[in-house]
Amino acid sequence: MKTELEYRAGSALYTHRLGVLLGQAVDQGDVVVLCGPLGSGKTVFVKGLAQGLGADTSQVHSPSFSLLHVYSGRVPLYHFDLYRLDSSDELLDLGFDEYLFEGDGVAAVEWGDKFAEMMPEQALWVRFFGVDDASDERRIRLSGAGCDVRRVLERLRCALAENEGGWV
Ligand SMILES: Nc1ncnc2c1ncn2[C@@H]1O[C@H](COP(=O)(O)OP(=O)(O)OP(=O)(O)O)[C@@H](O)[C@H]1O
Ligand SMILES: [Mg+2]
Repeated sequence: MKTELEYRAGSALYTHRLGVLLGQAVDQGDVVVLCGPLGSGKTVFVKGLAQGLGADTSQVHSPSFSLLHVYSGRVPLYHFDLYRLDSSDELLDLGFDEYLFEGDGVAAVEWGDKFAEMMPEQALWVRFFGVDDASDERRIRLSGAGCDVRRVLERLRCALAENEGGWV
């Protein structure tokens, strides 16, 4: 069964805060796939995610040229950016499968939709909309199938209700 949560982030600060709450809700082995146009807020969200995991966020930026950055928090965060990647072979060479499927940490994959068939079935998808508008508002839709996603989104709903009540 698919579970879904939609959040309206009025500014980058709210996107970041949603990331922080997600970082507090995820567990070892969880995979977060981020998609949306250039500049839609994926990296802002991952910075929040890293903070929520207790990592040093000063190092977090799009790892466009290295494909992967690792940050240490309560569990490691593997931050991938597949924007410049041309073939899935490169991804396999990097050990993508080991990080995701046998991972001791949490993975966040920007532009994961480029290689959707390589993303695990139980991944949590985070989609960004609204970047075309003149305003800073983004709609962020989190969805996925499987009990891990349900568990994570349930925690996130509770945290949002406690923190701001700002989700729709
Ligand atoms: N509601 C919002 N949420 C997130 N970022 C926002 C929002 N409103 C404005 N911004 C701005 O949009 C930019 C988002 O940049 P970011 O690097 O996170 O995008 P990205 O999706 O990772 O892009 P790329 O595909 O190039 O990696 C930042 O400059 C941020 O300040
Ligand atoms: Mg980015």
